[in-house]
Amino acid sequence: MNILVTGGAGFIGSHTCVTLLNAGYNVIIADNLCNSKKDTIDKIKVITNKDVIFYQVDINQEKEVDEIFNNHIIDGVIHFAGFKAVGESVKKPLDYYYNNVLSTISIIKLCEKYGVDRFVFSSSATVYGNNAVPFKEDMELLSTTNPYGETKVISERILKDTSTANQNFSVAILRYFNPVGAHESGLIGESPNGVPNNLMPYITQVAKRNLQVLKVFGNDYSTSDGTGVRDYIHVLDLAEGHVAAFENLKKGVHIYNLGTGKGTSVLELVEAFERVNNIKIPLEIVDRRPGDIDSCYADTSKVKSELGWNAKRDISSMCRDSWRFETNNE
Ligand code: NAD
Ligand code: UD1
Repeated sequence: MNILVTGGAGFIGSHTCVTLLNAGYNVIIADNLCNSKKDTIDKIKVITNKDVIFYQVDINQEKEVDEIFNNHIIDGVIHFAGFKAVGESVKKPLDYYYNNVLSTISIIKLCEKYGVDRFVFSSSATVYGNNAVPFKEDMELLSTTNPYGETKVISERILKDTSTANQNFSVAILRYFNPVGAHESGLIGESPNGVPNNLMPYITQVAKRNLQVLKVFGNDYSTSDGTGVRDYIHVLDLAEGHVAAFENLKKGVHIYNLGTGKGTSVLELVEAFERVNNIKIPLEIVDRRPGDIDSCYADTSKVKSELGWNAKRDISSMCRDSWRFETNNE
């Protein structure tokens, strides 16, 4: 089976390609490399010892992407391509709506044109907004606080409407919680440009002494130790969740949370990182970051019962693998 993976050179896409190749799928990657590097494609080949077809293309360039569908029999699409930085989306909303929403429309149109009716979409737990934890797939989506989140809400809606109009369209919408970790080879992982916004990449930069101190954004939340609680999930568990979702696609739109169901506070994550890697992380408590919520973790009962998937890797593996990737990629 040939799977077209948009954004397959990125953090989650590259790990999913590895898992797909190891499960026996052929992978065609379409990525414009706006937030990734070409050598990731070679690393995917090294890890799996399998070949990958790569097109450097912008998903919004419909004619160029049309050629991919023309050149190959595509059995399904996993659509990762998109921008993902919340803060940047507030400053550049049009870039986010253009890239994230239009790319989703373009790729669905090509699926319709070529009769490709299996589709997996990268959504985010950010769509739950200020709902009460644990987040369940059938919760009403209260307003998201940023344009990035809104692009995911709109894309989900577009997929639902498309599947209502085309009864053969089978869609899995996967709402990711907080992906961290890296492949155990240390070859692929997350390498954000500039100063990281997210917690784990910030911790690894402090561990490397590229940054001096971790700023903990608030210790007055209503959580066990006052710091924000999140559902960190190892990127390889997430990758396996995509294969499970693809293999269990059913007609219509089906939404699944990909998280562990367990919340970990900022201080607990720092403590685990220090223990596993034997490195001290200096920290200071500062004001809350605007837009942050107390707690965010998944109800995983639906994904367990319908896809038979659950996350296997613990916080220690996440900390070890994140750090291994960081030290391997000086
Ligand atoms: P990433 O930036 O590492 O990967 C995205 C990839 O898409 C990159 O390789 C980039 O070059 C490519 N891309 C972007 N726009 C493109 C376009 N128009 N045409 C072709 N390629 C394009 O991000 P990631 O962390 O791997 O995230 C993948 C998906 O998962 C995104 O849709 C993101 O919104 C979603 N998501 C990520 C997280 C997270 O914390 N990482 C959480 C929830 C959802
Ligand atoms: C971010 C995104 C969210 C996305 C999620 C998964 C924002 C506002 N939201 O959420 O849309 O779905 O990532 O990738 O960016 N923290 C610190 N110091 C830091 C960095 C973070 O204390 O330097 C704290 C935060 O306050 C939070 C926790 O660490 O409590 C996790 O933060 P982060 O990694 O940015 O993820 P989210 O806030 O969950």
